[in-house]
Amino acid sequence: MEIIVLYGGKSAEHDISVLTAASIIQHIQYGTHNVTPVYIDINGHWFAGPNMSEKPAADINLRFNQAENGQAVVPTDILSEDKDQVVFPALHGPNGEDGTIQGLFESLNVAYVGAGVLASAAGMDKIVSKHLFNQVGLPQVPFATLNAYEWEKDADAAVAKVTESLSYPVFVKPANMGSSVGISQATDDAELKAALALAFRFDRRVLVEASVENPREVELAVLGNEEVFVSVPGELGKGQGFYDYDEKYINNSTEMIIPAKIDDETVAKLQAYAKEAYLVLDGSGLSRADFFLTQEGDIYINEVNTLPGFTQFSMYPSLWEASGKGFDDLIEELIQLALN
Ligand code: DAL
Ligand code: MG
Repeated sequence: MEIIVLYGGKSAEHDISVLTAASIIQHIQYGTHNVTPVYIDINGHWFAGPNMSEKPAADINLRFNQAENGQAVVPTDILSEDKDQVVFPALHGPNGEDGTIQGLFESLNVAYVGAGVLASAAGMDKIVSKHLFNQVGLPQVPFATLNAYEWEKDADAAVAKVTESLSYPVFVKPANMGSSVGISQATDDAELKAALALAFRFDRRVLVEASVENPREVELAVLGNEEVFVSVPGELGKGQGFYDYDEKYINNSTEMIIPAKIDDETVAKLQAYAKEAYLVLDGSGLSRADFFLTQEGDIYINEVNTLPGFTQFSMYPSLWEASGKGFDDLIEELIQLALN
């Protein structure tokens, strides 16, 4: 079978996507499958690399472009229901994890790894997922929402709307980004204004959340279609406060503790919540559910990622590795899940 690995993309998470793709390409079962890497540049243009029937060198340059070894293509040059192929979108963030590209796959009748249009769109949108999680009673921190119209019309009124229901410190997040892009913390009105100005550079809708004091950050991996499996929890080690994008995903400077040292009762709750979040979003294939755990033992769901970071340093494959499912087996299972 031909596995089309799609990566890069018109997203602030472009670079981590290239790292994710490099890891996935190293762990596909060559012999059973061959791989066509397809790089989407930051402008959204597609470049196909050479089809590979053997595992490429680990340091293969995947940033194909016309000047080098890539061939400019449009999606229908590559994707076809007549071909024996599965698409593995190794994309993160907008235009990859948010249902837009999944809609293209659906239109072209090609099998693809991971969540469908609805789960991708709802999972990427921090505001929509909050509302859905509330609906099924998943515990969450208090939040407020703003749109660009409210912000542009009267910034002071927008700040007042937030502080009516939330007290400082708060986190400000664009509704549709990932990997901490556009997110900042605010401890007073002036900082909130600056944080909103930043967040509105990335999205028309912004979420403001109460912050949890010094929480443990715990993540669980979910895998499956109708039958859903949840891994043991992993914990992000604590450095100095809030990890930004580079610390978390590019420098691999966060320590992962797998399994997290958490009592059995709390683990069972986390696993039930991770599964509930998956089901309410109509998840398929995979996702990673991220939680805050307070010193008092309270659990809050933070978000789900339907295409979580997938490098050899990433939480998602490491959680399965700890549960006895190696990287190669995990990739093969995801390909099989795409086919049924
Ligand atoms: N959005 C990044 C890649 C993650 O959550 O793993
Ligand atoms: Mg995310």
